[in-house]
Amino acid sequence: MLIQHARLVDAGGEREDDILIRDGRIAAVGEGLAAGEGEPVLDAAGLVAMPAFIDLHTHFRTPGFEHKETVETGSRAAARGGYTFVNCMPNTNPVCSCGAIAQSVMDEAKRVGLCDVNQCVSITKDFDGKTVSHLRALPKNLRFISEDGKGVRESKVMYEAMCIAAEKGLTVMSHAEDMDLSATDYRLAENLETARNLYLSASTGAKLHMCHVSTKEALEDILTAKRRGGNVTFEVTPHHIWFCHNEFRVNPPIRQQADVDALIRAMLADEVDAIATDHAPHTPQDKQNGAPGCVGLETAFSVCYTKLCRQHGMPLSRLSRMMSRTPAQIMGLNKGLLQPGFDGDVVLVAPDEEYTVNPDEFAGKSHNTPYAGLRLAGRVRATVKQGVLTYQM
Ligand code: DOR
Ligand code: ZN
Repeated sequence: MLIQHARLVDAGGEREDDILIRDGRIAAVGEGLAAGEGEPVLDAAGLVAMPAFIDLHTHFRTPGFEHKETVETGSRAAARGGYTFVNCMPNTNPVCSCGAIAQSVMDEAKRVGLCDVNQCVSITKDFDGKTVSHLRALPKNLRFISEDGKGVRESKVMYEAMCIAAEKGLTVMSHAEDMDLSATDYRLAENLETARNLYLSASTGAKLHMCHVSTKEALEDILTAKRRGGNVTFEVTPHHIWFCHNEFRVNPPIRQQADVDALIRAMLADEVDAIATDHAPHTPQDKQNGAPGCVGLETAFSVCYTKLCRQHGMPLSRLSRMMSRTPAQIMGLNKGLLQPGFDGDVVLVAPDEEYTVNPDEFAGKSHNTPYAGLRLAGRVRATVKQGVLTYQM
């Protein structure tokens, strides 16, 4: 595929060039490139081409909760949001605690063909909070473990999991919630478990990724650990930088103005590794009954572009780094830059286009969004995965 006349923006900066994709990879970037015989040409005049987005934190609900989302509907939502790769959490039914379940989800994603998937495996077997021996039996292609939706209660269990992770080169993804305290004080629950896991990682050497960081205290502790050379990365969600009121139920909860300010300040200072959606589809009934979570794949770019680039003057290349390049590095992918040799995954956006979020237009199965009716800037117009269009508006 040849993508012509776009303004190119990636973590390295911006320029005006064409992109030629062959055999799924970027073959050339330069002026006046020509398509070969039979190769499709995409005229992107007036649009910005960026590396497609990579989501470190997604719930596709397979197996067990397909009434909320399937790999197919989730993939369509991802493509519509400009994503070509998502990392799925294991809080499914059954819990994803083995290679066989993980592989079946990834195979289904491959069959659908719209978005690549890595499926995380649970830190404790079936979320029992005790057993970590299954981690020793993981196949080599499964490198990420998570207890998302919960914290790992016992420090000794997390210690053992991190020892295995360090030995096997796994990355521990932490949903930081002290389960004994979250009903009483969720701020304390996040802060305590964040500090504990940072210390456990420093002690065991395990690679740690902190999910959906939402408090200024947790942020500060993570930045301190990084300055000390800690083997730690972290993500922030769009909803934790957009909102600071308490109406929409998510875990961790929407925080206070001071937290939002601290997260945005860190982003502007280039201290945040990644933006991840925590795309968490639920039925209206489940939301009514208090299920935490919001869908996010289809609004993430617009929310972040509006908040960070429009309102705070962040260069788009910085946003590209947080949505594509660093997530790719964390996942070990050959993605996230518009350079020859990288995967031919491109998103075309119209930065100046404003629109009103209408959940009825969502491609995903669930519509639990806190952004309905909001006016946002920055629209995803097309997504290309390895040289093939997976979405076009
Ligand atoms: O809001 C959330 N929803 N936070 C989580 O950690 C889990 C997620 C879900 O699975 O619905
Ligand atoms: Zn979580």
